[in-house]
This record gives sequence, structure tokens and C-alpha cells, in this order.
Amino acid sequence: SAQEDYKLWLQYAKVQDSKLATEYKSKINGIVALENSETIQVASKELQLGLSGLLDTKIEVQQNIDSENALIFGSKSSLDEDILKNLKKEFDQINDEGYIIKTIQVKSKNHILITGKTDVGVFYGVFHFLRLLQTKTSIENVNIADAPKINVRILNHWDNLNRTVERGYAGFSLWNWQKLPDFIDQRYIDYARANASIGINGTVLNNVNANALILTPQYLEKVEALANTFRPYGIKVYLTARFSAPIEIGGLKTADPYDAEVKNWWKEKTKEIYKRIPDFGGFLVKANSEGQPGPQNYGRNHVDGANMLADAVAPFGGIVMWRAFVYSEHDVDDRAKQAYSEFVPYDGQFRNNVIVQVKNGAIDFQPREPFHPMFGAMPKTPLMMEFQITQEYLGFSTHLVYLPKLFQEVLKSDTYRKGKGSTVAKVIDGSLDNHKITGIAGVANIGNDINWTGHPFAQANWYGFGRLAWNPNLDSEAIADEWLRMTFSNDENFVNPVKEMLLKSREAVVNYMTPLGLHHIMDTGHHYGPGPWVSNLSRPEWNPVYYHKADKNGIGFDRSKTGSKATTQYAPEAAKIFDDVKTCPEKDLLWFHHLSWDYKLKNGQTLWNGMALKYQEGVDEVAAMQSTWNKMGNYVDEHRFKEVQMLLNIQHKEAKWWRDACLLYFQQFSGKELPKRVEKPT
Ligand code: GCU
Repeated sequence: SAQEDYKLWLQYAKVQDSKLATEYKSKINGIVALENSETIQVASKELQLGLSGLLDTKIEVQQNIDSENALIFGSKSSLDEDILKNLKKEFDQINDEGYIIKTIQVKSKNHILITGKTDVGVFYGVFHFLRLLQTKTSIENVNIADAPKINVRILNHWDNLNRTVERGYAGFSLWNWQKLPDFIDQRYIDYARANASIGINGTVLNNVNANALILTPQYLEKVEALANTFRPYGIKVYLTARFSAPIEIGGLKTADPYDAEVKNWWKEKTKEIYKRIPDFGGFLVKANSEGQPGPQNYGRNHVDGANMLADAVAPFGGIVMWRAFVYSEHDVDDRAKQAYSEFVPYDGQFRNNVIVQVKNGAIDFQPREPFHPMFGAMPKTPLMMEFQITQEYLGFSTHLVYLPKLFQEVLKSDTYRKGKGSTVAKVIDGSLDNHKITGIAGVANIGNDINWTGHPFAQANWYGFGRLAWNPNLDSEAIADEWLRMTFSNDENFVNPVKEMLLKSREAVVNYMTPLGLHHIMDTGHHYGPGPWVSNLSRPEWNPVYYHKADKNGIGFDRSKTGSKATTQYAPEAAKIFDDVKTCPEKDLLWFHHLSWDYKLKNGQTLWNGMALKYQEGVDEVAAMQSTWNKMGNYVDEHRFKEVQMLLNIQHKEAKWWRDACLLYFQQFSGKELPKRVEKPT
């Protein structure tokens, strides 16, 4: 039903396996909270809700641990000396947000303890414990110590104050500004629960294309109400700062970061915010990009702008996330090179509470992009990852695409900056260059649709983002497994085939939209559906033809040393791989090379035939997804079953649309027949 849609992965459905249900019940006689903080109270509520659903019985809240088999939870400071002394090793393994889940003995009676250095750590442990039960895992002699590898695990909402969401495909913004601050929608609380369950600890409430009004007292009062709501769940609130705010709402004549009045305005504004929200996280800034104001308007640079804001938030422990998504209309030989060119020279000049936020690839959230060359290239500056969870270029919330596959591919990519194994994950978790501030952002796919994300399976992308933010080394397959079990069913006949469907879905979309390294050939503006022919837009780098460069001689963007030389922005080892068409991975071929239609692919096909077959493969993969899903009716409630079925039907139709449109368009250049296996356009 729609209710199941709403509950996300926190369904807490009754455990079907009777052996396990018996085990769980025998180990959980009652729950004992050792503290009474707001966070421990919401943890207790979550445990009661979760356990009563999973075990189908009311769970007693006990005041003490006189009986056996209690589930005890509380932070380190609430533990007795005799419990504490046996946990030294575990406490050494975790940081402030980590947790320990362990079977312990108290007065020779067994109990399960969930603890951590902070209450939020305990809360995360509670969710992990519930996940064990949700995913059919034994809790016999449980012994887990885990902690997040990245500090700032944050959602970026591109939400406007009028509740439209830029690139949002799941309804309107969750934030009901008109009813705030006095009306606290239950949605805010369920949003916070869902985020806490996967370890997300920050949220930027408003669009990077910012409206300065968010910084006025009228709005800050509402922001404060949201911050108060999220606080027990370990979630800090952040805002985007419009660089020209001192002019727009401050009445100043300039927003020049060198101007004393401007600096002072930001200092006072920041003070005002922290007075309301003592744990305010800081600012996210999009400056001098796509028409947004910034320091360059005054002849200053990114460092000047970022450091001014950093100085304002520093006394309160805040941070500035300064975005590197910049590309100008003036220097267009290769848009992919611009962020690196503009930022790398500033390495080492940012304040230590600035973190530069870099998209996963150098263009813009394509179905596939090689990793952004900035990762690893600014060792003296912390860089954070920006992934897009909302599917701007991947079929909105209509197409089923499991994004953790994409995220993982990027995180595992080797920058070679400090030799082999210098992965992007190591750059952003701070281990490669020894950074203290680390972060990962996901542009949210959440709106006020009943199911939050538009497509029921897009919930997996929110979930998977959070899990990888916690630990970028997790495997996307394991994440798919747990998400499916928590969200739908533990039945292996469901989990195995549907997991396979999820894991293949990302490559399917690459194949039917942009195989072999093609990119940015979506129709203009909305980015939905094919538009490789578009060539009439005022800025060259907005036109799809700029990216594929198809002509009679071939197709692809030569970014190698014979072309735009974008490859030189990578470490020499990586550049060498990309530069040589023989070693360049075929999945990135046309990203880095312009090749003739007769170029021979590794499988012996010509480029034209191979490309056409990839488009067909994409269509076939969606057909396989449909036939998998059509068999799942017995394992899923009718509502979600039908929703997904209809969406997959659309996806199949549109995969064919992509194939036909792109092949017919490119065929005028290749002048060649389609291989037999490719279905003719209908
Ligand atoms: C993309 C997107 C814009 C967004 C921009 C950004 O270009 O289409 O809507 O504002 O990214 O990340 O700033």
C-alpha cells in the first residue's frame, strides 16, 4: 500500500523465519536505556517501533537489568566500570560517531549492549542492530564495532523557497516554509529517522542557486525550527549563502570580499544564525558559476570569497563548502578542463575550515564520467565529493537506475596521485593527504511524493548514498542486498533476481543513453530523453554536438594529448592510460578519443556496429528487468508491484526511443547499415 511506500527501508515487517524469530525473542527480553537524553529517547522509540514490528510483540521498557537478556543501550559515560573495562579495545577502534554492539555478561547473565562515545553513536548502533534483524542476521554472540570514515555526510537539497525543487522529480520540497516554524510536519521527523538510520549527519536545506531571503530573520526562525527537529537525530543544518546577500538583504552597495563592511556583514549574520542554531553546520556556496554572483564580480578569486565566509563561521566551529562546479562561456575549448584550471592553482591557500566540493566527474552528473581530475590534485586542500542522487541525466524518477554502482565506480577509481592505489575514496576520506575535515554530499532525490523519491527503487539511491558516505569501501552489491531485504522481502527467490536487476540497471542506462564514453547528448534544458542533434544554443558548450563531435570521419571528443589535452590534468600514470586508445577503458573511449566509424573495438566489431549493439543491449537489459519484475508479484504488495511494473514499461519504451533517436541521428554520419541484431526503429 501507499503506507509501505512511505516507510522506506524502515518497514520493520515481521520476521518470517521462525528459527530466527525465536532466537531474537530469546535474546531480547526487554530494552533498558541507561540515559534519558533526547537522542537516547528517540533511539528508544525507534527500538520499540522496530522490535514490535519485527518480533510482532510489544517490547517492555525496563528500568534496570535484573533479568537476563536485556538490550541495554547508552553512551560510554553511562556505563558501569565493570562493563567499561572489557570494552577498551572496542572503544579504541571507534571515533565519536561510532558504536559497539556486543554480547556482554553482567553478574554472569547475558545481555546485548549498544554503546558509543556519544549518544548519536549509540543511535547509529541501534539502527545497525535493527538492520541485523531486518536482514536475517543472527545476533548470537554479536560483536560489532563500526564508525564512519567520513565526517560530513550530507544531503544537498536544491529546494527553492517557493517549494519547487531544481532537478527534483519527486514532488515539491519537504520544507513547508509557510507553516513553519510552528507546524512541525511528521515528515520532518521521518526524514530525520531515515537519514539517521544510514548515518547522514547534515542537510543543506536550500538550492545552490541561492535566494538570499533564507538568511533573513523571517526565514532563519523557520530554519531554527527544522534544526531543533533534526538535532536529536544527529543531523546538522547548513544553508547556501548567496554571495550577493550583503547587497540584496543587507543594503550594502557591494559584496566585495575585501570590503570591511561586507566582511562585517557576514560576521554579524553568522553570529545571528549561531545565536539561534548553536550547532549550525556552515555554508555551501556556488559562486561565479552559471550566472551566480561571486568574488570574481569584484576582481577577487575563489580563495578570497571562501576565506571571508570561513572567517565568519570559524569562531563557531562552522565550515564552508565551496563548490568547484565552474565553467565559463569564454574559455570553451574543453569545458571538462575548467574547474581544474581554475582551482588547482589555489591549493594550500584556503582556510582550514574550507572544503572544496567537487562533482564526481568534470562535466555534469552523466550516466558515466571518468573521475574528476581534481581528486588527488590538491593535496593541501580537503576536497569533498558531490554525487547527484536525483537523476537529472538518468531518466528522472521514471527510470530504474541503481546509483551505488556508479558511486562505487568513482570511489574505487585510481588517481595514482601517490602511486597505485590512490583511490578517490582515499582522497575524500582524508587518508591519502591526511585531512581532518572530510565530506561527501549527495544532491537529494527527495520530495513530498508519498514514496519520497518518485520511483520506489530510487529510495535505494538515497539509502546507498548514505551507506557509502558512512563507508566508501562498502560494496554496492551488499548494499543492494540489505536494502531489498529491509524494503521488500527476505525471501531469496525475491532478493537474488531483483538484486541482479538492480546491479545491471546502471549499465543498462549507460548503454541505451550514452555507451562507450558518449555524454551530454540529452535534450537541452530538462535533460530528459535524447537530443544529440541540438546545436543552436548560444553557448557552444551547452550543445550536445559539442560533446559527441560526430561527423563523416567519426565520433568522440579528443581529450588526449592530440586534442584538448584534458588528460594532462590527471597524474601521469592515469593520463597515460587514458591517452592511448589501446589502454583507455572502452567504457570511456569516446570521452577521450575521436575515432573513425571503422575503428576496431576489442570484441572485433567496428565502432559503428559496436555502438549500435550497445544501444540494443541497453534495450534488452530493460526488457530483462521487466521480465524479472513481472515474476515478483507474490513477494511485494500490489501497490508497489504495479508502480514498478508501469515504470519499467515506460523505461523500456524510452530505452527504444533513445536507441532509435541516437542511431538514426548518428547514421547520417556513419553512412552505414545497422547490424542485424539491432531492431529497426518502429
Ligand atoms: C547542473 C544542473 C543545474 C544546477 C547545476 C549545479 O548544471 O542542470 O540545475 O544548478 O548543475 O550543480 O550548480
